[in-house]
Amino acid sequence: PWDAGRAAEIIAAHAGLEGATLPILHALQDAFGHVPAAAVPMVAEALNLSRAEVHGCLTFYHDFRREPAGRHVVQLCRAEACQAVGADALHAELRAAYGVEWHGTTPDGRVTIEPVFCLGLCASGPAALVDGEPVARLDAAGLARRLEAGAE
Ligand code: FES
Repeated sequence: PWDAGRAAEIIAAHAGLEGATLPILHALQDAFGHVPAAAVPMVAEALNLSRAEVHGCLTFYHDFRREPAGRHVVQLCRAEACQAVGADALHAELRAAYGVEWHGTTPDGRVTIEPVFCLGLCASGPAALVDGEPVARLDAAGLARRLEAGAE
């Protein structure tokens, strides 16, 4: 969970770096799993930036999560080779099945769906990371089985 004291330590530890905004945001996400709005003024103050600048950085890079993720994170490859083997249709099917848009989390907090761009599995798409594990030739049934196996 978010801990402002710990966040302040993380920010202080990176504040001296050149171009510290991104490393700090990454470090916060690593520590807390997301970067909440409460972090923005803290980072802005430490780096002498405006809140708008920090917020802009946070929203520009889609790697950053602004809300806690679900218990399972499914990252679907949207790059070209996967698209060529039907990833778009699969992604639409999965978003409908789980009832979420990109970056969305199911209301029960079970699954978050996020886009990624190329996982190096281009020859065996549609590719995905399911809870950080690479999966080739993903389909809806295979994903459901994996999520079952991952329990919760
Ligand atoms: Fe999807 Fe490379 S294009 S893994």
